[in-house]
Amino acid sequence: MCGIFAYKGSSLNAADVISSGLKRLEYRGYDSWGVAVINNGSILLKKDIGKIGDINKLDLPVSKLGIGHTRWATTGAVTQINAHPHLSSDHSFALVQNGIVENFEELKEDLKNKGYKFISQTDTEVIVRLIEEEKKIHPDLVDAIKSAFLKLKGRNTIAVLDSKTEQILAVRNGSPLIIGLSKNKDIFLSSDALSLSSFVDKIIVLDNGELVKIGSKIEIKNIKTGKIVHKDWEKLTFKDANIDKGKYDNYMIKEICDTPETINQVIVQDEKNIQNLAKAIKAARYVFTIGSGTAGNAAGQIAFYLREIAKIPAISLIGADAKEYYDLFSEKDLLIAPSQSGETADVVEVLDIAKAKGCKIATYVNMPGSMMNRMSDFKFLANAGPEICVMSTKIFVSQVAWGYLLAKTTVGLYEDGINNLSKLAADIKTYLEEDTSHQAAKKLAQNLIEIKDLFILGKSQNFYIAKEGMVKIIEGTYKHAHAIPAGDLKHYAITLIERGVYALALVSNDSSFSEMFNVVNEIKSRGGSIIGIYPEKLPAFDYYLKSPSIGETSAIGNIIPLQLLAYYLAVLLGNNVDKPRNIAKSVTVK
Ligand code: BG6
Repeated sequence: MCGIFAYKGSSLNAADVISSGLKRLEYRGYDSWGVAVINNGSILLKKDIGKIGDINKLDLPVSKLGIGHTRWATTGAVTQINAHPHLSSDHSFALVQNGIVENFEELKEDLKNKGYKFISQTDTEVIVRLIEEEKKIHPDLVDAIKSAFLKLKGRNTIAVLDSKTEQILAVRNGSPLIIGLSKNKDIFLSSDALSLSSFVDKIIVLDNGELVKIGSKIEIKNIKTGKIVHKDWEKLTFKDANIDKGKYDNYMIKEICDTPETINQVIVQDEKNIQNLAKAIKAARYVFTIGSGTAGNAAGQIAFYLREIAKIPAISLIGADAKEYYDLFSEKDLLIAPSQSGETADVVEVLDIAKAKGCKIATYVNMPGSMMNRMSDFKFLANAGPEICVMSTKIFVSQVAWGYLLAKTTVGLYEDGINNLSKLAADIKTYLEEDTSHQAAKKLAQNLIEIKDLFILGKSQNFYIAKEGMVKIIEGTYKHAHAIPAGDLKHYAITLIERGVYALALVSNDSSFSEMFNVVNEIKSRGGSIIGIYPEKLPAFDYYLKSPSIGETSAIGNIIPLQLLAYYLAVLLGNNVDKPRNIAKSVTVK
């Protein structure tokens, strides 16, 4: 999943603008980057592996037109040659891509047979050579791009810088592409609205199958029919979101500490909107929640609250593996999708299929104008501010707090839900302001630094919290963690328990309290060590991390010490906390 940023204007220098735009897109991919600008009719290009260099290292000439790209490698290793943009053989145009060309091998073979040479391992370069081939039949670059693009299989979004006409041409199919317009009529193009927020105040979101030509004016066409598509400018609804780390060393710890504010943003959600969705939940035949990664765990916790609190037969799905449900979807059903980016391809695909079958769609996203936001019948924005760290923390809490309030509202307990969330926000705020909370997590991290495996046990309201703790530990430490429904340990995993094995036990003062201690004792009696997570230290705990709250929302509080533990472990291990290896903030490819 990558980031595209482009500029055509008169008031700014293209390389500066694109470099700053790419920095705001680095969460989408950061193994390499590239910028191409037009100067005196020629394309000048800089690209390299690693984080985008600061502007003066680009030493590109002043220009009014250019494109840029941050890469998260899918096809082709992380090398300078494979970085985008990729140039046509005559250097007349440069191309960047976000997506995967599923038929690139056969296209490449055919182009090789026609005499084309390839310098990179990427599917992107295949698109460039294919356009060159199509130009032999369609000399006009726009026509050649259209004809080539329609031969690509898979979800791909591309942008092309054309030195001949001094235009930017782009096509969206899958990964998002947003046009921005500044007060001085400069035109921008980007993979997300957030990166445009400091430059523009109006946007147009391209839909799949649309080609935009940015020259003396903006022209949007349907790539299949060739018909002009008229779209109105939308006001960019959020101001330039502050993405400065401030006093914090990393975005992750900043975003964990932002959690109380994100819960307050849930509390101020429009009650009417929540009541409407609660009504739809009660009216639905099946309610499915769905997400990927951390959002998949949020979907699981939301379904738990709907079952436990609202007695709704809610089922949680994982975006990447929901195929067996497709034939179950009907117009009587409702899908609820939490998602930070609102663009996760795995989930969008399931929502598309469900929508086509008449399902109602509710989404809770943190990116206005994102695909999931635009396609849903019930739209909710987390308004949590940007979450830059690839490891999702504050947004997970925002999603599950929203799900908790939704469940409470479904049974007429909206006010009670609001009160409990207000208390939760205050408890977490106090907890995170106490240095002892951080010192305890740091100290425990030192004890765990050598471990190879970590079991995380949760039951009932804590099971999906345990799964999210597993995701945090794996993402932050690259070590293996294993979340288990506490009572299930005795059926298989107990064979692994011996001296030196650690298990985190997430405890809440609820009906599963005593069963949790049966499991704790099973582990201790076989030499295992217990790390208790609970508002107070209990004798059975060998180690202990205080958690910030009790009561109905205690599971949400339990994730905070887990996030802190993962953070301090990642720091101790010297890992890239905000950009762990191999993962990206949002995967907009299948
Ligand atoms: C993964 C991210 O790629 O996608 C996770 O690393 C995230 O942090 C998951 O939870 C789903 O992304 P989104 O944008 O749908 O929440």
